[in-house]
Amino acid sequence: MQTGKKTRAMFKRAKACMPSGVTSNYRYWGDDKSLVLKRGEGAYIWDQDDKKYLDYRMGFGPVILGHGFPAVLEAIKEALNMGNVFALTHEYEIKAAEKIKALTGVDLVRYANSGTEATMHAIRIARAYNGRDKIVKFEGQYHGFHDQVLWSTFPPLASVGYRNAPIKVCQGSGVLSSSAQNVVLLPFNDEEQLEKKIKDNYGDIACIIMEPIMGNCASVMPRKGYLEFVRKLCDQYGIVLIFDEVKTGFRVAKGGAQEYFNVRADMATYAKALGNGFPIAAIGGTKEVMGDIGFLKIPHGGTYSGNAVATAAACATLDEIEAGALDKVSTHGKRLMQGITKILNHRGLHGFVQGPESMPAMVITEAEAVYDYRDVAATDHAIYEQIIWKLLEKGVMPDTGVHEPWFISASHTDKDADFAIGAFDEAVTEVLS
Ligand SMILES: Cc1ncc(COP(=O)(O)O)c(C=O)c1O
Repeated sequence: MQTGKKTRAMFKRAKACMPSGVTSNYRYWGDDKSLVLKRGEGAYIWDQDDKKYLDYRMGFGPVILGHGFPAVLEAIKEALNMGNVFALTHEYEIKAAEKIKALTGVDLVRYANSGTEATMHAIRIARAYNGRDKIVKFEGQYHGFHDQVLWSTFPPLASVGYRNAPIKVCQGSGVLSSSAQNVVLLPFNDEEQLEKKIKDNYGDIACIIMEPIMGNCASVMPRKGYLEFVRKLCDQYGIVLIFDEVKTGFRVAKGGAQEYFNVRADMATYAKALGNGFPIAAIGGTKEVMGDIGFLKIPHGGTYSGNAVATAAACATLDEIEAGALDKVSTHGKRLMQGITKILNHRGLHGFVQGPESMPAMVITEAEAVYDYRDVAATDHAIYEQIIWKLLEKGVMPDTGVHEPWFISASHTDKDADFAIGAFDEAVTEVLS
């Protein structure tokens, strides 16, 4: 797929003023392929050439209700009338925190502005709580852009090493190499390795930070009992369990993955769906772990954290979620998953769709199931990408990479699902012919 004339011209301008023409590395698709958008509405986006796409990226997940969702826009307009940043507490902050507590069951909430900030703060709070340095992180899990978590997020399969002794692969240059010393790296879904590494590092591990569903690795689900096992080990060894719910929070269930799996973490980080696309994040946790955050004790702050616009957006978004918006998300997701599965079977292409209905993912593989990053890395990325580029030509836009799930919003309709399924059938047929 090549972008249209106006989009290409605009991207040229972008490249002249921003490295690679983008504000986040993951948005660069090539000089004649990267999109420059004009607008979004509901489940659709339009590029500079007015080409319309049914959006299954939804900003990499935040837009849970739909682009430009009226109730959220109204709430923001109202909030703007009072100003935005005061460096003092205001009512929107309190209201949003009360709603987060009610939906997720956390005791206390602190705000941040992005998922990166939230996971950075959560790790620090965990370290302060038990006075330890090391963190457990899993291959193929992504927690944002701070140094200590930029290890083995998307490593090439050739460099990951032996499964029982995974090599910590840095995401790129500039990351503090010594930050790896405090990272205990493991494959996901492997109880034996986890227990062994915790014992090997007895008394040193502050926290396990994990995406309960691999939202950055084809929505790989935890094996039955795995999260309960992790919880048990954390209790046994005094380790703080952090669920990074930046993707799963307010998406897979009203109360996120904690509700979906009925497993409690000590802290959870939220961002994306919390504000329907407006920059807000939160760290929620137990009184025991978060109760001591305060001046000269546990550092936490941020000039823009809890600003009026973002917290008003969160209030409006959470009201919709509370009122049942996720039912629409699931209905669409189910229809889409069934449709894609049927086509894969019908066309004789080995693969499957997995994950929760609100963020499903497809893998093309002869394997029966995938359980970790290595499994997903071994699936057929080439054919996956060929299908997706065909879909883009047809106006349906999941992300181009196999790791990113398809994000569904409450604005996606049955008709949209049928359109996407039809386009998928055509795309697969063309790729296989
Ligand atoms: C699970 C998870 N944690 C953290 C982050 C970082 O969030 P942000 O991009 O808002 O910094 C992401 C971003 O995709 C994520 O998926």
